[in-house]
Amino acid sequence: MSGTTAAGWLDGDVAFITGGGSGIGKAVAERYLAEGASVVIFGRDKDKLQAVVESTGQEERILGVAGDVRDPESLHDAIAQTVARFGKLDILVPNAGIWDYNRSVTRLDGADLGAAFDELFAINVKGYLLTVEAAWRELVKTRGNIVMTLSNASFYTAGGGAVYTASKFACRGLLNQLAYELAPKVRVNGVAVGAMNTDLRGPESIGLRDRSISGSFARSEITGNNPLIPLHDSSIEPKDFTGPYVLLASKTNSGNITGNIVQADGGIGVRGFGDRAAGGDHL
Ligand SMILES: NC(=O)c1ccc[n+]([C@@H]2O[C@H](COP(=O)([O-])OP(=O)(O)OC[C@H]3O[C@@H](n4cnc5c(N)ncnc54)[C@H](O)[C@@H]3O)[C@@H](O)[C@H]2O)c1
Repeated sequence: MSGTTAAGWLDGDVAFITGGGSGIGKAVAERYLAEGASVVIFGRDKDKLQAVVESTGQEERILGVAGDVRDPESLHDAIAQTVARFGKLDILVPNAGIWDYNRSVTRLDGADLGAAFDELFAINVKGYLLTVEAAWRELVKTRGNIVMTLSNASFYTAGGGAVYTASKFACRGLLNQLAYELAPKVRVNGVAVGAMNTDLRGPESIGLRDRSISGSFARSEITGNNPLIPLHDSSIEPKDFTGPYVLLASKTNSGNITGNIVQADGGIGVRGFGDRAAGGDHL
């Protein structure tokens, strides 16, 4: 598809995606480009962002901005760069996050649990809130919308340890409250993705910053958490979760939808959560 003649569900829109240097954020950026949007990807690793920008071959419609979602100043600066480069902001995707690698309350002492909580909540929850704070004024101008990445852990146990699960439930609370506060000018929705093959890292404070999902688990362990695999035409690659992000971001196709969450997890609510749901002994 050529850069300027693209026609799609997001034709002419401008999107800002945190954590767009890898995983689902990168896949959503690529999909939004294909749907006709211009995209800014924000993340803490400058090289990763630049590699994504170059890999698209569409530098005129994608910009990488390095920064940390815990830092309001860098978020405000990135939104200002977005508007300077592309003229406006229509779609915001709060997505940057880390995981706790299933550290249950019985596996960490109080000091480590507290440190993991502070770091993980600062990125996963405060980061989403600060991202919205930096962007809402521009979204009001365009009658834009927000599509948050949520998780199966926003609804169910066994998608992480207590810290991660609490953070993703908290994001659901943010989504509801922000949909209320920003209506009727800005819609706020979410996609609760299930297990994906990504670069998802853990808290630096407990030595897990360099672990990644794709490097730590066999593919079968990740697919095992998706009840639709292998009997349906589904997959654990991030690109296969991007459809709902397009739908919810589309002014034409979701103009009446706010405060809603699409659960793209293979049906955990009706089929259960693979082997882990059987429990195991955490004590
Ligand atoms: N991978 C899964 O199985 C899965 C399942 C459910 C939900 N999620 C959620 O998906 C979202 C994206 O994760 P992913 O799986 O694509 O992992 P990922 O690591 O590939 O992507 C996350 C991105 O966020 C960036 N990031 C992390 N901390 C940051 C910070 N402080 N400031 C700026 N950027 C930061 C990372 O550099 C990375 O590029 C997360 O919110 C995660 O909780 C993932």
